[in-house]
Amino acid sequence: MKKVLFIYFSQSGQLEEIANSVARPFLEDSEMEIDFYEIKMVHSFPFPWTSHAFFNTFPETFQQIPEEILPPPPRVLETDYNLIIFHYQVWYLTPSIPINSFLKSKYAKDMLAGKPIVTISGSRNMWALAQDKMKILLQTNGATLVGNIALTDRHHNLISVVTIVDWMFSGIKRRAYGFFPKPGVSEREIQGADKYGKIIIPYLKKGIFDGLQRELVEAGAVDYRFFLVSMDQKGNRMFRIWSSLILRNPSKRRRLVGIFKYYVVFAIYGISPIVYLIELFLYPLLYFLKYRKEKEHYEGI
Ligand SMILES: Cc1cc2nc3c(=O)[nH]c(=O)nc-3n(C[C@H](O)[C@H](O)[C@H](O)COP(=O)(O)O)c2cc1C
Repeated sequence: MKKVLFIYFSQSGQLEEIANSVARPFLEDSEMEIDFYEIKMVHSFPFPWTSHAFFNTFPETFQQIPEEILPPPPRVLETDYNLIIFHYQVWYLTPSIPINSFLKSKYAKDMLAGKPIVTISGSRNMWALAQDKMKILLQTNGATLVGNIALTDRHHNLISVVTIVDWMFSGIKRRAYGFFPKPGVSEREIQGADKYGKIIIPYLKKGIFDGLQRELVEAGAVDYRFFLVSMDQKGNRMFRIWSSLILRNPSKRRRLVGIFKYYVVFAIYGISPIVYLIELFLYPLLYFLKYRKEKEHYEGI
């Protein structure tokens, strides 16, 4: 018997649906015993978000400042799992506050130390540097990353910004203004995520995970896009400055968060298309200097 724990947090239910899909083949296998653990916060975040709450959560998210979580159920704390499948979402290029709070809580080390972990993110599309941060959090807890699946909104970056904002501020996964595509990970990909469960099971049965990540990538688990990683890197540099500025000036917080909101819109719609054209022009050169290595890094574990 192999015991598997599915950890997740989800505001809209998207990551819960993904976890259910991945879990389907485990449920159908008589050698598998599975549990779900939903991370719950003492202070919960609003959903749908108001504009102020959405931007106001930025500094603490980016600086990875944890909040208190409710204790996990006793069964989850007591069971010795053979594999943990860890679902998370990205907030401001960083694992979300609930995920960060769990990973920095007193429960995480006991639950994760010495355990193989498969991470599954469900984000808009900028997950790469958040996954680097996730690796550090897992290492700190003594866990071993054996696989990674990054599910995203596959639409154009400038379109998915509009549609995700509509989703986050309305709470409904709908076609914004009647003609935009639906936001988030597509229904087809969510339902099709059981293929990843099917890939993982034989490795778990053998207890050896060598080759798992390669097989996951061949099945479409990671879609490296050079420009999204480039924006992620630049965004991280700017977010470091903005988050420190806001946290160092609590009395001016409301005004600074208001300016930050306009900065984000300007960076996405004003600066990023110009940088994209420049990087597209330089692509053949940058491929050998940078992108080839990056692709290997993010398709690996
Ligand atoms: C405050 C906030 C910030 C977000 N920032 C990012 C981001 O930097 N990159 C990204 O790809 N998605 C971002 N998203 C989208 C989330 O990763 C996720 O896809 C969405 O919130 C749905 O997750 P759920 O399962 O919790 O409903 C953000 C969402 C929220 C609420």
